[in-house]
Amino acid sequence: MASMIQKIPLMVLLLTGFIWLSEGEACTKCTKCCPQYWMRVGEYCYQYFGNKMKFHDAENICNRFGGNLPSIRNEEESNTIYQLWKGFVDDSTIVFSAYWIGLRDTIQVNKYEWTDGTPVHYYNWYPAEPNSSDEDCVEVVNAGYNDDERQQWNDALCDQVRSFFCRKPLN
Ligand SMILES: *[C@@H]1O[C@H](CO)[C@@H](O)[C@H](O)[C@H]1NC(C)=O
Repeated sequence: MASMIQKIPLMVLLLTGFIWLSEGEACTKCTKCCPQYWMRVGEYCYQYFGNKMKFHDAENICNRFGGNLPSIRNEEESNTIYQLWKGFVDDSTIVFSAYWIGLRDTIQVNKYEWTDGTPVHYYNWYPAEPNSSDEDCVEVVNAGYNDDERQQWNDALCDQVRSFFCRKPLN
C-alpha cells in the first residue's frame, strides 16, 4: 500500500509528459491547416458565404479572416470555385445567381485589379461584358448553357448583393 502511494507522483508525471508530447505532435501536424470548417483546395482555404453582401462588405469580411475575395488566374481556378459553388446551391442553373470574385475597376474605368494584388493576366468575360462604366465590380454571372459558359464574368454595380467565397493561403 505504501509503495503504491509512492508511485502516484511518478504516474502523474508520466501522464502529464505523455499529454504534453501528444499535444506537441498535434501542433506540428497543424502547421499547414485550414481553419475549422474551411475547405482546403490545393494551397488555399475556402469558405462560402451564402448570406449576400455588397462587394466591399464581402471583401472586408474576407480581410478580417486574413484572406480576400478569390482571384481567378486560369481556367482551372475558375472551375475549382465554380464546382465548390455548385455544391452549395440548390439549383445552379438560375441565371444571375452567382457570386463576387475579387476583381474591380473602382480606381480607373477598365483598369481591372484583383483585391489580393495578383496581376491580371486572365479574363473570362461573358459575351458583350463588361458593358458599363458605372459597374465596377465583377461577378461570375452564371448565365449560359453549360458549365464553361456559366463561369463567365459580368461587371455589376458594387452595391448589389451577392454571395461570395473568401480565400486565404494555407498557413
Ligand atoms: C449592362 O449589363 C447590365 C447587367 O449586368 C444591365 O442591367 C445594364 O442595363 C447593361 N448596361 C448597358 C449600358 O448596356
